[in-house]
Amino acid sequence: MELPFAESYKIKMVEAIRRSSREERDRWIKEAGYNLFRLKSEQVNIDLLTDSGTGAMSDKQWSELMLGDESYAGASSYYKMKNAILEILGYEYFLPTHQGRAAENVLFSVLVKAGDIIPGNSHFDTTKGHIEFRKAFAVDCTINEAFNTTVHHPFKGNVDPEKLEKILKAHGDKIPFIIMTITCNSSGGQPVSVENLKMVRQLADKYGKPIVFDSARFAENAYFIKKREPGYADKTIREIVLEMFSCADIMTMSSKKDAIVNMGGFIAMRSKELHQKASVYNIMFEGFITYGGMSGRDMNALAQGLYEGTEYDYLETRIRQVEYLGARLMEFDIPVQQPIGGHAVFIDAKRFLPRLPKEEFQAQTLAVELYREAGVRGVEIGALMADRDPVTRENRYPELELMRLAIPRRVYTNNHMDVVAIALKNLWDRRDIITRGLKITSEAPIMRHFTVGLDLV
Ligand code: F0G
Repeated sequence: MELPFAESYKIKMVEAIRRSSREERDRWIKEAGYNLFRLKSEQVNIDLLTDSGTGAMSDKQWSELMLGDESYAGASSYYKMKNAILEILGYEYFLPTHQGRAAENVLFSVLVKAGDIIPGNSHFDTTKGHIEFRKAFAVDCTINEAFNTTVHHPFKGNVDPEKLEKILKAHGDKIPFIIMTITCNSSGGQPVSVENLKMVRQLADKYGKPIVFDSARFAENAYFIKKREPGYADKTIREIVLEMFSCADIMTMSSKKDAIVNMGGFIAMRSKELHQKASVYNIMFEGFITYGGMSGRDMNALAQGLYEGTEYDYLETRIRQVEYLGARLMEFDIPVQQPIGGHAVFIDAKRFLPRLPKEEFQAQTLAVELYREAGVRGVEIGALMADRDPVTRENRYPELELMRLAIPRRVYTNNHMDVVAIALKNLWDRRDIITRGLKITSEAPIMRHFTVGLDLV
């Protein structure tokens, strides 16, 4: 008999989960204004809010913490991180930042000005936030297939070359760079192929534009390339990663994802001149250029995480768990973004709750129902997150109205995934009687979904 697949690690430390009753959860979610970000973590049974900063560090990462050098300037931990970035990603210059959006803030302070246009594949919300905050515009050039959850496409993170070239042709002078998010979180943790990255490179060269990779889940992207792109099956993850990054000039990184640390980020680049310009903002916003908002011990753990995060065995365990949850949901005919993404399963809320009008926030309603059912916390990636148009202040209704179940790295077992799957099946079975959506009672002027207050309609 063929041996079954098993995780590529064993568990050395555990953390207790507090269980709760439905009555408790009904009360807690009402008190939280039907906003899952406002819940206390102890009110959550299985926390799939995000895979960001929620992973379990390895014994090697924990031991690296003890070796951290906390010197203000020139710490050995900075050089450890520098070496890992050079070896794994191929960039000579870098600046540590406290997380991914801080990297965006520093980099965009140099590169983005009012009226600029930044094309790419579906920009992540903080990226878009930092663009719009500077009165610039994010233009989504993702392939159309990505917006239909029933269509199978191996690389739904890809950019449509025609859409991209149209923008480059029409607004070339207003475009400071092209941004590629790998994997593309907003379209469902979907990868970008090397072929597509090379095509974007060609267009960028034709129009003289640099390329920025928003790299939070770059290793998961490389895993999908190995599995799905012709010609890459025999290459190592590290070889594929280097080939991917050879297509870009600059990268921002939220290390809370594929570097498997709880906090941290960086910007890396080939240009010494850009490094110098960005250093000014890094010092102002983050900290001196050799720590930039991170402690030495965290830089050590991050460097170790970059090595572990690009090991095939780790990635296989990780992505197979996400696929396992996706497969269970598909068994029950629950509508999910297909194929299943790298870090999360995305439920198509428009198809789950078609009787609910979009004005009542279908994905948020589904996320609230799932929490009440089983204490599982997912997150809305839909109209709440899409926010209002910065000019007209009208609500924006994106094509995809999704509830994301993001799986933290090395944290839960497949038994937990089974609980999530059954809880969703219970909701699916009674979807026709979920007829009451949500309305907004209070909201912030930008990135409202984090703090929004809601009530039942
Ligand atoms: N880029 C992408 C693609 C992301 O997914 C995130 C964060 C960021 C940038 C910002 O990084 O959180 O370190 O400041 N995504 C998290 C998520 C929050 O839940 O998907 P950060």
